[in-house]
Amino acid sequence: MRLSMKIIKKIRFIKSSPDPDSCPEPVYPEYAFIGRSNVGKSSLLNMLTGNKNIAKTSGTPGKTKLINHFLINNEWYLVDLPGYGYMKTPRKSREKIMALIAGYILTRKNLYCLFILIDCRHEPQTIDLEFIKWIGINKVPFVLCFTKTDKISAYALEKKLEIYKKILLKSWQTLPEIFITSSFKKTGREEILNFVVSTNSNVDI
Ligand code: GTP
Ligand code: MG
Repeated sequence: MRLSMKIIKKIRFIKSSPDPDSCPEPVYPEYAFIGRSNVGKSSLLNMLTGNKNIAKTSGTPGKTKLINHFLINNEWYLVDLPGYGYMKTPRKSREKIMALIAGYILTRKNLYCLFILIDCRHEPQTIDLEFIKWIGINKVPFVLCFTKTDKISAYALEKKLEIYKKILLKSWQTLPEIFITSSFKKTGREEILNFVVSTNSNVDI
């Protein structure tokens, strides 16, 4: 059995919160998934936990609307957040979602790392680049996860990554940690879970 198979022993859905103040007590290290609507946040959470339906997924963007906490092994939280940037959502609702996300990110004391998800098929999107910039300004620890990599060839993925890294290096001295993922093929599971385990051992909250 590979290491990551044993990492997740217990998953418990704790609650869905409509605002940062309603989130569970910040007593465990926390890892949250963020990115554009439909990028695959909830699917990645399901893939990592090995529980297909614990977080609700949908082909229609805008499925996740609240802050969803899942407690893993009674030791750390995985958090599924609503997506940003779905243009068909009315502007007022988009602003509300953005305020919810920003409020959560800026106030959550135990947020040890934010996983920013990027759909590997697209050219770099302004909304994602601006979000990454904002995260940098606010000094929030983050990694990038390129999602849905089962949808393109290894060669095409390599090209997309090159373009992304080039853009990031224009404003960052070093690149963040990057994970290549496919929730359908379970790509990246081992790497992400090992990252969480090693990060947890450095946490002091
Ligand atoms: P919101 O909650 O609406 O922001 O979306 P989300 O980011 O949580 O995305 P979700 O996990 O609901 O997935 C959106 C769609 O993408 C669904 O139809 C998934 O089946 C599909 N999807 C997610 N991950 C993958 C993947 O790794 N590969 C492929 N091919 N499709 C995926
Ligand atoms: Mg979702």
